[in-house]
Amino acid sequence: MKVDVLLGLQWGDEGKGKLVDVLTPKYDIIARFQGGPNAGHTLEFDGIKHVLHTIPSGIFHQGTINVVGNGVVIDPIIFKKEIDALHKLGVDVSKNLFLSRRAHLIMPSHRLLDAASEAEKGRNKIGSTLKGIGPTYMDKTGRNGLRIGDIFEADFKERYDRLVKKHERMLDFHNFEYDLSAHEPEWFESIELLRSLNVIDSEHYLNQQLAQGKRILAEGAQGSLLDIDFGSYPFVTSSNTITAGACTGLGIAPNRIGEVIGIFKAYCTRVGSGPFPTELLDEVGEQLRASGHEFGATIGRPRRCGWIDLPALRYAIMINGVTQLNMTKADVLGDFDEIKVCTHYLYKGEKIDYLPYSIDPDQVTPVFTSVPGWKCDLTGISSTDQFPEALENYVQYLERELRVPVTVVSVGPDRTQTIMREQVTV
Ligand code: GDP
Ligand code: IMO
Ligand code: MG
Repeated sequence: MKVDVLLGLQWGDEGKGKLVDVLTPKYDIIARFQGGPNAGHTLEFDGIKHVLHTIPSGIFHQGTINVVGNGVVIDPIIFKKEIDALHKLGVDVSKNLFLSRRAHLIMPSHRLLDAASEAEKGRNKIGSTLKGIGPTYMDKTGRNGLRIGDIFEADFKERYDRLVKKHERMLDFHNFEYDLSAHEPEWFESIELLRSLNVIDSEHYLNQQLAQGKRILAEGAQGSLLDIDFGSYPFVTSSNTITAGACTGLGIAPNRIGEVIGIFKAYCTRVGSGPFPTELLDEVGEQLRASGHEFGATIGRPRRCGWIDLPALRYAIMINGVTQLNMTKADVLGDFDEIKVCTHYLYKGEKIDYLPYSIDPDQVTPVFTSVPGWKCDLTGISSTDQFPEALENYVQYLERELRVPVTVVSVGPDRTQTIMREQVTV
């Protein structure tokens, strides 16, 4: 068996949570491989709307195992809140949620360091979710971090104190005012909860399950354009959000990767700072934000909106080895007479169809073409037979341009508003 990977091809929030939930019945195990509570993955079904941050989006399916992999960073406080919220909905995680011993812990002081770093950057701030993601991954690569496995060691508190001392010196250096005591008791209480969960060597577990023929889906967080290596650096997150991240974040060898499902919106959004070539700063952008309810699932910030960007998608498809595309939010374009598509960029006086080193506004100018809109409500349709012609044309146009089949079109936030297309070869 192979591990399939599902990940975002844009700047996050493509609808990964919804699609993982829809696809879960096809899998035995769903495994998150990177990121942390900066993610907000929304699931809607039976009138429930639920946002997950660290817990994999297969958790609502009783028979499916959900694994938080070694590449994920965990904030015990947020994790406990997620589990409490699931309990309230009647979801028992005691049997089907597993955590990697090697996953790193986000400490209260990491969140403070995130805030201090952003405050110091001023106008150039990254627009971080301030969940402590960057500082935690810095301690991981700096070989200072605390891992889930450490919470079972006798000297855990001493190791915590040692790292906090270092963080305090860094915060003082930033001249940042803080009160750690406000967060520490809750953090240690939440650590107690983590101790009671199923903590495992997830790389062994996943490989054993694969050998036994179990089907595994790796769930990405953020999006390819926020990848630490290939995203719009420095306006990125601190992990590898791409397929390669599933290998390092779960301990899965590259030759065990199967299908790579790349999710994109029928248009494009970004939350936080950084370049966004196809951004619409006019009333069309406002219309997309209003129709698409484009407000962040984690901290509610308005998302920046723009047209679909083919050079960026081509790049993401190349880096990830995408074998299937899933397009979400087609319904949001239902009011538009015409839909614009960025086919190329003008870069240093030349027309290019790839993503160059810099996509800053002074470097690239997007070139658009227009296609007719479908001008109807898609939210009630349930099969491709009911696709308006203009929608089918839009999908086929994207398939030709991107050379990857679009196997799913999503027409609303609910689980049921998902249309499978027959496997097509392009
Ligand atoms: P994720 O981070 O990739 O899981 O995506 P988010 O949950 O942050 O953001 C996607 C938002 O769009 C959520 O509010 C979803 O409920 C919603 N959504 C997903 N697919 C569709 C769709 O096809 N149409 C509409 N209108 N909303 C969708
Ligand atoms: P999901 O999984 C959208 C963005 C932040 C900021 C940058 C760095 O829901 O798609 P960080 O907190 O990682 O230091 O922030 O990355 N960002 C996201 N944008 N969706 C996400 O996750 C994001 N996670 C981080 O807005 O620009
Ligand atoms: Mg999200």
